[in-house]
Amino acid sequence: MDTPAPARPAVKATEESVLAIRHWTPTLLSFRCTRPAAFRFTPGHYTRLGLGSGEERVWRPYSLTSGPDEDVLEFIAVRVPGGEFSQRLGELKVGDGIGVDKAAYGFLTVNQLAPGKDLWMLASGTGLGPFMSILRDQAVWRDFERLILVHGVRHAAELAWRADIETMPPLAWRPQAKARLRYLPVVTREPGATVLADRIPLLLADGRLEAAAGCALSIADSRLMVCGNPELARSLREHLGARGYATNRRGVPGQMAFEKYW
Ligand SMILES: Cc1cc2nc3c(=O)[nH]c(=O)nc-3n(C[C@H](O)[C@H](O)[C@H](O)COP(=O)(O)OP(=O)(O)OC[C@H]3O[C@@H](n4cnc5c(N)ncnc54)[C@H](O)[C@@H]3O)c2cc1C
Ligand SMILES: NC(=O)c1ccc[n+]([C@@H]2O[C@H](COP(=O)([O-])OP(=O)(O)OC[C@H]3O[C@@H](n4cnc5c(N)ncnc54)[C@H](OP(=O)(O)O)[C@@H]3O)[C@@H](O)[C@H]2O)c1
Repeated sequence: MDTPAPARPAVKATEESVLAIRHWTPTLLSFRCTRPAAFRFTPGHYTRLGLGSGEERVWRPYSLTSGPDEDVLEFIAVRVPGGEFSQRLGELKVGDGIGVDKAAYGFLTVNQLAPGKDLWMLASGTGLGPFMSILRDQAVWRDFERLILVHGVRHAAELAWRADIETMPPLAWRPQAKARLRYLPVVTREPGATVLADRIPLLLADGRLEAAAGCALSIADSRLMVCGNPELARSLREHLGARGYATNRRGVPGQMAFEKYW
């Protein structure tokens, strides 16, 4: 069962090793580490990562970006100015040790939603992470008819995994895949980089997002997941709430789910 992350630093953790680092920009990186044999998670979950040694170790929550069946764990992280964990991320090297909480947490998982036909995944910045994991799980390709991934970033270089997303699903899954993916990148500070260039809540409110997706929202068929900037989540929650969409309440699955990163 999903449980909220404990407020105190993780004590039940394993020591893993960094296997690879990919720098998307000077402040945005993704990295892979070894996966403990007993580590289980549902796509959309986050865990807690620890960097630094001994008393100096700092723990922060990070969404898993890897698929549930992969041998390694993967994460994406932005380095924010002045952040304690961000400073340690800046020094991260292949071969370094990294603490990984033994448990995974969260409610941004497909099983929090009532069954539907269209799964909308709306992300800002590193909020893309959990949706990568969800798309790297064969289940959504079988269970939905349409998958719509909207990724809003400031600059085009921050459209992490763009090329990988554009070739999804993997060839091996295609015979069983019912779903078709519509990927809508949104770059807000580089005019001309993408067709859609305004903030996601505005694009949703004025109908441009549905037009670009070629898919209208409906309470009967649409399920929405939102991740990233808390203000983005707040605006979308307000807008969708006014249109009749609800979150999971007391175990009754709803039509939308949110995760805020700060
Ligand atoms: C459930 C959950 C999952 C998370 N998953 C991720 C993830 O997959 N990738 C990731 O990079 N971060 C993620 N975060 C945020 C992450 O835990 C850290 O807060 C972040 O990496 C910065 O840590 P810090 O110590 O450097 O600065 P902090 O002191 O933790 O943060 C300083 C400030 O930086 C800004 N900030 C923090 N995180 C972000 C972010 N991701 N994007 C934009 N601005 C931010 C906020 O203004 C925040 O107040 C998640 C947070 C939560 C609650
Ligand atoms: N991205 C960079 O170039 C950069 C460089 C160095 C440091 N940083 C730091 O890294 C952190 C994260 O930056 P980030 O770019 O990943 O995340 P971000 O600021 O949340 O921006 C990601 C996307 O979300 C949009 N957005 C921001 N606020 C929104 C709101 N209230 N409603 C709807 N959409 C909203 C942004 O649009 P807008 O463009 O309109 O804001 C952008 O398209 C920040 O603390 C920043 O200071 C970023």
